[in-house]
Amino acid sequence: FTHQGIPYPVTMCTSETFQALDTFEARSDDIVLASYPKCGSNWLLHIVILSLENTINGWTKESPINFSYQECNFILSRFRMKQFSSPRILATHLHYDKLPGSIFENNAKILVLFRNPKDTAVSFFHFHNDVPDIPSYGSWDEFFRQFMKGQVSWGSYFDFAINWNKHIDDANVKFILYEDLKENLTSGVKQIAEFLGFSLTEEQIETISTRSTFQAMRAKSQETHGAVGRFLFRKGKIALVSGISSEVGDWKNLFRETQSQAMDEKFQECLAG
Ligand code: A3P
Repeated sequence: FTHQGIPYPVTMCTSETFQALDTFEARSDDIVLASYPKCGSNWLLHIVILSLENTINGWTKESPINFSYQECNFILSRFRMKQFSSPRILATHLHYDKLPGSIFENNAKILVLFRNPKDTAVSFFHFHNDVPDIPSYGSWDEFFRQFMKGQVSWGSYFDFAINWNKHIDDANVKFILYEDLKENLTSGVKQIAEFLGFSLTEEQIETISTRSTFQAMRAKSQETHGAVGRFLFRKGKIALVSGISSEVGDWKNLFRETQSQAMDEKFQECLAG
């Protein structure tokens, strides 16, 4: 399904989805989690859920569905959403300008998660090719071409980044980097909690961090995400940033030198100005 030039998986977005978004009424205590696909959205969601469970007595994601995931649920539950108790979590891959205006009018808090585009592209490619129910790509080269053109689900990584980046200094917006979370999870959890106004003890922050490591989440992936779980917690590697990481990003396994250069150039072009 294509809307305003951006392709979406039809199982998640249809024209009804966007109609429902037009009339969606956000609340000031909604928590929006925005990320391009494969930037670690399930990771951030997990951290926020655990933080909420530790902050608000009786809040669980199962309790009368005060939890919504992705655009499909905006539509699937557009009537029920009104009855969800606060705070609701709205996780989305939509670009800034596609989100319901009421989110900004009501100053809902927004966490925006980014990840190195090379690792993101590789993760996205594997996701397409590993998950049985979604279309796969014939080769990495074919996927790379489409990714660079923004002709993949949810559109261009670069447009997503440029649009959100204009709001990096907005008071209700906080940027989080996948790589920073990976480097220091405890500090990331603390910053997220502070931004959302949760008062968590040091012990609670430690517990949340321990339960949010890649290994901990992967071990429970079947239980938390069903059959798709093993595809959502694949490798969890990060690009090598000199001096701060000993892990090498997964992108090195697929990118050719020319592709790496092309993406660096695209990035510089997007950063200009
Ligand atoms: P890889 O495919 O590179 O392993 P999303 O949740 O947005 O679909 O993102 C999925 C990516 O986030 C996958 O990347 C996955 O392994 C990684 N990921 C999920 N949980 C993680 C965690 N706790 N720590 C580090 N990476 C995690």
